[in-house]
Amino acid sequence: MTRYIDASTAPNRNTGAIRLYNSHDFIEMKKAGNAAAKCLDIVSEYVTEGRTTKELDKIIFEYAESIKAVPATMYYRGYPASSCISLNNVVCHGIPGSKVLKNGDILNIDVTLIIDGWHGDTSRMFVVGKTSRKAEILIETTYASLMKAIEILKPGITTGDIGETIQTYAEGNKMSVVRDLCGHGVGRLFHDHPNILHFGKKGEGYELRQGMIFTIEPMINIGKPEVKLLSDGWTIVTRDKSLSAQFEHTVGITESGYEIFTLSPSGQDHPVF
Ligand code: MF3
Ligand code: CO
Ligand code: CO
Repeated sequence: MTRYIDASTAPNRNTGAIRLYNSHDFIEMKKAGNAAAKCLDIVSEYVTEGRTTKELDKIIFEYAESIKAVPATMYYRGYPASSCISLNNVVCHGIPGSKVLKNGDILNIDVTLIIDGWHGDTSRMFVVGKTSRKAEILIETTYASLMKAIEILKPGITTGDIGETIQTYAEGNKMSVVRDLCGHGVGRLFHDHPNILHFGKKGEGYELRQGMIFTIEPMINIGKPEVKLLSDGWTIVTRDKSLSAQFEHTVGITESGYEIFTLSPSGQDHPVF
């Protein structure tokens, strides 16, 4: 039995109930989401050949500082950076480091900014210079799978409907959906109930209600869906070394549909090739 709880009275931890936020909370989430999206807009200018991923992370840290936001990943379960930067065959949770960007690389930058206790979580793909057509198609397919799932959001549908939409689209384009990582409730907490799976069947999972806030963040591989964790304890890569892409938005369920909190203020939600 799914439990739903008024977020304003819920304790500040994952209780296993689904929090329902009010319209004031949605305004706060829009501020946090907008800041995270603007941060990606800013860092996008620096995604160029020769730069290291650590330099990109520093720009993110400094932007967060300048607006008095806190990067949620910093010290989260011991994570050491202000963002996750995942290149090529890295699926997610790539740790920024001394790796130098080269022409043709594709990368996901994932930023979560906390403003007044509210978490805005978003990620996008970026391309260094010019990449292969197959990498471009992977990126386009991943973005479209996210947006198709967002377009169906409204009270009464289920989390399984979200997963089914993403899986059908990705597999219909001969790509695969990573199973081992998922979207999540977000808001006062970084990772809250429920999990949002990117695969599944219509009608399964939890029913959406007005006031829910969560992320959808499909990871799509050109090859097989299996992943493995590297020995640094964070970096997740494709087992078959195929390219992987991801996009993430934070969304809220409204009376008749949805609101996206993490739209790019400058319209750069996806790369143009
Ligand atoms: N931002 C990621 C997400 O979308 C979580 C990263 S947790 C970290 O949920 F510790 F790896 F940074
Ligand atoms: Co997330
Ligand atoms: Co994220």
